[in-house]
Amino acid sequence: MSKSKLLEIARNNKSHAEAGTMVLVDEIVKIPAKNYYDPDRWQKEVDLIFKRIPLVLSVSSELPNPGDYKAMDVVGVPVLLLRDSDGEIKAFLNACSHRGAALVENGNGNKKRFSCPYHAWTYNDKGSLIGISSPHEFGEIDKSCHNLIALPVLEKAGIIWATLDPKSKLCIEKFLSGYDSMLELFDLKNWHVHSQRTIKGPNWKVAYDGYLDLYHLPVLHSETFGTDISNQANYYEWGPHQRVISPYRSPDRNGKSEDFDELLVEDWPMDVLMAGVWTIFPHVSIASFNGGGRSILLSQLMPGDNPEDSYTNQYYLMEKKPNKKQAEEADKQFDLLEYVVREEDYATGLRLQKGLKTGMIDSVMFGRNEGGGQSFHAWVDKILKANDKDLISLFG
Ligand code: FES
Ligand SMILES: [Fe+2]
Repeated sequence: MSKSKLLEIARNNKSHAEAGTMVLVDEIVKIPAKNYYDPDRWQKEVDLIFKRIPLVLSVSSELPNPGDYKAMDVVGVPVLLLRDSDGEIKAFLNACSHRGAALVENGNGNKKRFSCPYHAWTYNDKGSLIGISSPHEFGEIDKSCHNLIALPVLEKAGIIWATLDPKSKLCIEKFLSGYDSMLELFDLKNWHVHSQRTIKGPNWKVAYDGYLDLYHLPVLHSETFGTDISNQANYYEWGPHQRVISPYRSPDRNGKSEDFDELLVEDWPMDVLMAGVWTIFPHVSIASFNGGGRSILLSQLMPGDNPEDSYTNQYYLMEKKPNKKQAEEADKQFDLLEYVVREEDYATGLRLQKGLKTGMIDSVMFGRNEGGGQSFHAWVDKILKANDKDLISLFG
C-alpha cells in the first residue's frame, strides 16, 4: 500500500519534470512577522504544540537492546526513554516519586533498575517502584501508587515518539495520519547510528521553514551544494507531515549523477524513490545522502529557552555499519552537512530574525511555490487554536 503510494508520487513527480511544471498553490500567503518573535506566542507554541503533540525523541537503533536508556530534557521536561526487558519502549518523567530527583543524568546508558541518587528509591524497567530505603522508618506507603509517571510513547518505522503530557488522549498513530507507513519504507529500525551532533540555531519556526524550502537551495547553498540544483519543490502531505521533493532532482549516487528518467519508476532503486526531505511535524526532517554508503541526516529541532533560540540534534544514520574508509567518508559528509546548516541556514536565520524583531516588517511571504511553508504555518495556527478535545478531532 505504502509502496504503491511511493510509486504514485514518483510518477506524479516525473510527469511534472517532463512537462516542466511544479505544483503551485493558489496564492501568496502572508504571515505576521511577530509570529516569529513575540514571547507570548512563542510560549503558547511550546505549551500547546511541543507539550501536547507527539515528538520524535529518538530512533530505535539508538536504543537497540533491553536496558538501553536515554535521558534528556525536552522543552524543559526531564524525560527517560528506555527499552524494557520485553523489548518494549517506555517513556517516563525522569523524576523520582519521593521528592522529584532525576533518576539518571542526561545521556545514554544501560540499566535494569533505576536507583535514585538522592535516597535510593528504586524502580524497575517498567517504571514500578520496587524498593524504598529504610521503609520502617520512612513510614507506610502503597508502592504501587508511586511508580514513575509514564508518558504516551510509540515506536514505529524505527522512530520513537512520545507525548510530554501523561494525560494526553491523542493517539500517536492517528496523529501520524498514515505517514508512519511511508516512513517504514526506509526500514530505519535496522540502520546504524553513526554519529550525533547538536547545533544551536534561530527561532524554531525560522529553522523549520528552511527544511521545507527548496527555493533557497541554489542561492544560499551555491558555495556548498552548487548552483545547478533545482529550486522547485512539490509537497505531498499526510496530515501535518510533508514530504518535499523537487520534480527535477537527478539523484547523485556514489559520486556520479545518474538519470533515472528513462526507467519506469517501478525499476527505480529504493534510495531514489525515497529521495527528498521527509518532515515530521512539528520538528523533524529526514534527508538522504550517500557519504560512506546509503545514509540519512535526521534533524530533530527543539525550541531553546526563548523565542530567538533553538537547538537541533543531528543524527547521521547509515543503512549498514561502515568500515573504516566508509566511516571516514560518512564523517566528511556529516562535517559538510553540519557546516551547511550552521554557517548557511542557521546563520541566515539568526540574521533574518534580527530584521524581523525590529518590528519594522509587518509580515513575511510564502509564495505559490512555497506551499509547504504555508501548510506548516496553517497547522501551527490550527493547533494553537484547538482545545484538547478539538486537537484530537484534528487528527480524526
Ligand atoms: S528523591 Fe528519589 S529517593 Fe528521594
Ligand atoms: Fe538550507
